Amino acid sequence: ILAAGGESLDAAVAAVRVLEDDPTFDAGLGSFLNAAGEVELDAAVMSSTGMRAGAVAGVKRIRNPVEVARQLLLEGDAVLLVADGAEEFARESGLPLCAPTELHLAREVRRFHELRENGTDPLASFGPLPGDTVGAVAVDDRGEVTVAVSTGGRPLKPKGRVGDSPIIGAGLVAEEGLGAVCCTGWGEGILRISMARMALDRLAELPPETACQAAVQALYTKVGGRGGVIAATPRGEVAFAFNTPRMAVGYRTALMEEGIVRVESSPTLITS
Ligand code: GLY
Repeated sequence: ILAAGGESLDAAVAAVRVLEDDPTFDAGLGSFLNAAGEVELDAAVMSSTGMRAGAVAGVKRIRNPVEVARQLLLEGDAVLLVADGAEEFARESGLPLCAPTELHLAREVRRFHELRENGTDPLASFGPLPGDTVGAVAVDDRGEVTVAVSTGGRPLKPKGRVGDSPIIGAGLVAEEGLGAVCCTGWGEGILRISMARMALDRLAELPPETACQAAVQALYTKVGGRGGVIAATPRGEVAFAFNTPRMAVGYRTALMEEGIVRVESSPTLITS
């Protein structure tokens, strides 16, 4: 989309939509089930231009919640809609609804039963599990930066629990002149430290990679949290950092013939 001169909004949403449709990840199809055995999804989109934003939380009948967040950003009557209200907005906007069970992947139903029956602490199990929140940041040739994010939250989360992902300043943020940031990881910790805003503010004074590392370091030192962050600046710089055992990242800049996708396994150093 970007190589064809398209907008960062369309590019970021398209990337996240692919990840929502891929059952590998904890977003859209493939999401973890909550303590009630349901899939409840959160997603958000934010553009640096005018700091426009749209977000949905706790939706059960939407395969691609990032598309609903995008529509909300474009229509602009609210920033965040939850549950039935978000689904009603999607229906009125002509976006498709699905049966809640269409989002229940057999792998995740098995995981739900194993976690529940073995009495495993859902927070303790969060770290080693594959998947987690997906996000994308994109910069277009007009310098607009957009971030999109989508998640099923954490396994066995309480019914109605909302994580960092649809909360501006926690799971994502974008601002003209600074760039865009997206977080993944332990939502409760990310919420408490307003991690995305912290990383974005650091982008004003530090190289992008150092800014990302500072936010991850703060997640650990302030609340003992694990997670990751990706960032892009209006100049087209990209950066990421994480303190989980691994994080999958991919990127392509205008100077690259092909994109890079890989699983990184060198976490940001934790010094305290
Ligand atoms: N980082 C996603 C969540 O905790 O919901």
